[in-house]
Order: sequence, then C-alpha cells, then structure tokens
Amino acid sequence: MLETIRKRRSFRTFNKIPVEEEKINTILRAIQFAPSANHKNPWRFWLVKNKEILTQLSQATPWGSFIAQAPLAIVVCADEALSREWLEDASIVGAYIYLEATNQGLGTCWVQNRGSKTPKGKDSEQYIRDLLNISDNLRIVATFPIGYPDEEKASHSDQSFQPDKIRTV
Ligand SMILES: Cc1cc2nc3c(=O)[nH]c(=O)nc-3n(C[C@H](O)[C@H](O)[C@H](O)COP(=O)(O)O)c2cc1C
Repeated sequence: MLETIRKRRSFRTFNKIPVEEEKINTILRAIQFAPSANHKNPWRFWLVKNKEILTQLSQATPWGSFIAQAPLAIVVCADEALSREWLEDASIVGAYIYLEATNQGLGTCWVQNRGSKTPKGKDSEQYIRDLLNISDNLRIVATFPIGYPDEEKASHSDQSFQPDKIRTV
C-alpha cells in the first residue's frame, strides 16, 4: 500500500490511449467502499466521457484546463442535507480515486470546484450543475480527469517526510 501511496501524484497531461472499461469500473467500485460518517454515503458521481462535455468541464475553473485532454472524468458531488460530514466523506472519495487510479497505472488530479469560480466569474458549482443537469441540493466538490499520464513524475520519497509535523505525546 505504501508503494501506491508514494507513487500517487497529480497528473495533468494525458495521452490518447483509451482507458479500459474494466479499469473505470474498478475505480467506480473502489470509491463506493469508502468510509462515510454514519454510513450515510452522501456522495453522488457523474462519469463523463463525452468529449464536448469534458471540454466544457475544463472551463469550470481556471485550474482545470487539462480536463479537456482526458478521456474521462469523475465529478464528485455530495448531498449536504444527507450528512453534516458531506465534505469529509467526499474528500475521502477523492483520495480513493487518486489511489485506485494509481493502482491501475492511471493518472488523475483533483480539480477544485467547491467555492471556485469560472474564469468569467460564474460560480463553478452552478456552472457544472447547469452543464450536467445536476439538482440544486448537490454540492459539487471536485472533478477528477482520468487517463494514462503523458508525463513522468517521481514518486514521493522520504525527503517529503516531515517529522516536525508530528508530535508524539
Ligand atoms: C483539495 C485539493 C484541491 C486541489 N485543487 C487543484 C486544482 O484545482 N487544480 C490542480 O491542478 N491541482 C489541484 N490539486 C492538486 C495539488 O496541486 C497537488 O495535490 C499538490 O500540488 C501535491 O502534488 P501531488 O498530488 O503530485 O503530490 C488539488 C489538491 C487538493 C487536495
């Protein structure tokens, strides 16, 4: 497990190799096994494969233009009325997407939507709700473009380990 955790990086360039359905399904299964407060599972997911929609998703924030190059993306949403801990739950799902994608030899990157604005100043969450026809009760946490990385990135090494962040009592 530590090996996968070390290998996990944020990838922002993707090559044209299509992602196998089996790998996509494995990620979609993995995220539903994530823990959630009181087992409320307040999350909802949109799997986006349509090129035009991916291009539009890439314009939801100034920090996600690379979504347009990905063969697919998962938009992580959560129903805040279902659980007070919706954000914690959705964030754990984000970590699961990162890790299972890494495990499958794929790359991804968290693109922040919650609280973000489009380059034209529109609320990023509302932009995505309108684009994907998502109901108003769902918060849009983040978008994860997924594909085979078109770049090499070093694994996290022990140099990133910061013992001073830890206090033992
Ligand atoms: C909550 C959160 C929000 C992030 N938002 C973005 C984003 O909008 N765009 C982006 O390119 N990367 C985003 N990232 C990725 C971080 O930049 C990245 O995790 C960090 O630089 C460390 O690099 P690594 O993931 O390769 O270890 C986000 C990561 C997290 C956890």
